[in-house]
Amino acid sequence: MDSVTERLVRHYDKCLEEHRGTPKEVDWNEHSARNRYKAFANVVKRGVTFGFDDNVGDVLDWGCGTGSFTTFIDPFSKYLGYDPSEAMISEAKKRHGDWFNFTTDEPTNKKFEVIIANGVFTVRLKTSWIVMRQHLEETLDKLWDMTETVLAFNVMNSLSLSKEKQRDSLFFMDYNELDRLARAKTNKIVLDASYCPYEVMVQMWR
Ligand SMILES: C[S@@+](CC[C@H](N)C(=O)[O-])C[C@H]1O[C@@H](n2cnc3c(N)ncnc32)[C@H](O)[C@@H]1O
Repeated sequence: MDSVTERLVRHYDKCLEEHRGTPKEVDWNEHSARNRYKAFANVVKRGVTFGFDDNVGDVLDWGCGTGSFTTFIDPFSKYLGYDPSEAMISEAKKRHGDWFNFTTDEPTNKKFEVIIANGVFTVRLKTSWIVMRQHLEETLDKLWDMTETVLAFNVMNSLSLSKEKQRDSLFFMDYNELDRLARAKTNKIVLDASYCPYEVMVQMWR
């Protein structure tokens, strides 16, 4: 595990320990969490064709936490939830393991129609902005290679708050920066800030 991820996992494991059973277990507040899940579920609905190719999964939920997103998608989806945190995956399996697959083993050389990373790049804690930006870019390189149809992720929207109000522990980006990052891979991009006042979801379509 790289040091950025290690720091984040420590933070989220503490959230789980202190707030088990509420959205705060993954550092979300209830109302915004639901809006986020619904927005990502819409991407899944549009991107998944429920193909018959066994080598292609429908959905990879990268940084799935306790697996709450599964309650927003079709239970017959070929869904894989990945998270580097043992504690998160153990909880996800307990809650949703009858219907969905979860793992701490990083999926490599696999293809998924839709890949989502919801909240994985929201918090940066003491990691510098530039290192977090690099971490995001490297992760996108990896995920884009596994994406058949669409890759979607979210970050904090720097246009939503004045500079003074932007907490240093969160990872803010602006539209130009996000556009540049995504356009390096595809011209088919959606920047969606309609579902939550403080963040933006980036969709990268093939
Ligand atoms: C804000 S939580 C969101 C959990 C889930 N996506 C949800 O919305 O319910 C962020 C999750 O990302 C995981 N995470 C942190 N760094 C990661 C990385 N480099 N790759 C994959 N997951 C990561 C954390 O362990 C944590 O469970």
